[in-house]
Amino acid sequence: MIQIDNERCIRCGLCVKDCPALCFRLNDRGVSTRHEEHCLHCGHCAAICPRAAISLDGVPADSLPPLGAFPSFEDLASLARGRRSVRAFKDEPVSREVLLRALDVARYAPTGKNLENVQWLIIEGRERLRRIADTVVDAFRGVKLMAGVIHSHDAGGDPIFRGAPCAVFACADSEYGLSACNCDIAVTYLDLVLPTLGIGTCWAGFVMRAALASPAVRESMGVAEGLMPYAGLMVGVPTVKYSRVPSRRDLRVTWLGDE
Ligand SMILES: Cc1cc2nc3c(=O)[nH]c(=O)nc-3n(C[C@H](O)[C@H](O)[C@H](O)COP(=O)(O)O)c2cc1C
Repeated sequence: MIQIDNERCIRCGLCVKDCPALCFRLNDRGVSTRHEEHCLHCGHCAAICPRAAISLDGVPADSLPPLGAFPSFEDLASLARGRRSVRAFKDEPVSREVLLRALDVARYAPTGKNLENVQWLIIEGRERLRRIADTVVDAFRGVKLMAGVIHSHDAGGDPIFRGAPCAVFACADSEYGLSACNCDIAVTYLDLVLPTLGIGTCWAGFVMRAALASPAVRESMGVAEGLMPYAGLMVGVPTVKYSRVPSRRDLRVTWLGDE
């Protein structure tokens, strides 16, 4: 629900211009709302109003945190280039407090239609992860390309979770066509934030692929009915440190414009 304090409103029209659902209209006395049923609840109106005159869904604009400083391009580029997939972890649990701090940031990842339909599944403990890895490997048995992974797992290695003490999965309903995208973005946020808190990450691609295809894998993971674990990371305290940024392919860009 949108509430406008017309005492505070200065009719600047910023909410009218910014609302993606066109829910605001300027009138003689101030601003009014229309077809609120189309509201995405994205909060742009409350965020952009210079006078904190708009409250959304019962949250007073005054109570929203002010915008903090952004990291510099150099700082963010350094993080984006310097984060690495970690595949060597200490045999110690990941602090739930640290995980929650990072997940709290991932809450702000964009979602299609602002559905915010991502739910997190956190799996702790190497024994539990081993049992899940068994089902992942079983799902791949007979697949020629996976022979090496299967052999390594059967020989006691951990090519699936890389010895991580914990794995985190972003789950969402499969009804919405961009749920996988929402989960990928949320996990990408996590993948960038966790290294700043001393936690190493590696995308759990084998598990993601197996879980998509196999109800048995999803059951072993404890995924709730109606959800799909579209994206996930193994996480843990790293035992490795990288000294350099590896090279990557040159940019491949196609520019198209007006003729
Ligand atoms: C979608 C996705 C799935 C991945 N799955 C796995 C995986 O199952 N096991 C693994 O060790 N690494 C996995 N990786 C890590 C990639 O191998 C890694 O990102 C790539 O080699 C580049 O290394 P960097 O992340 O350190 O830059 C995955 C990465 C992505 C993005």
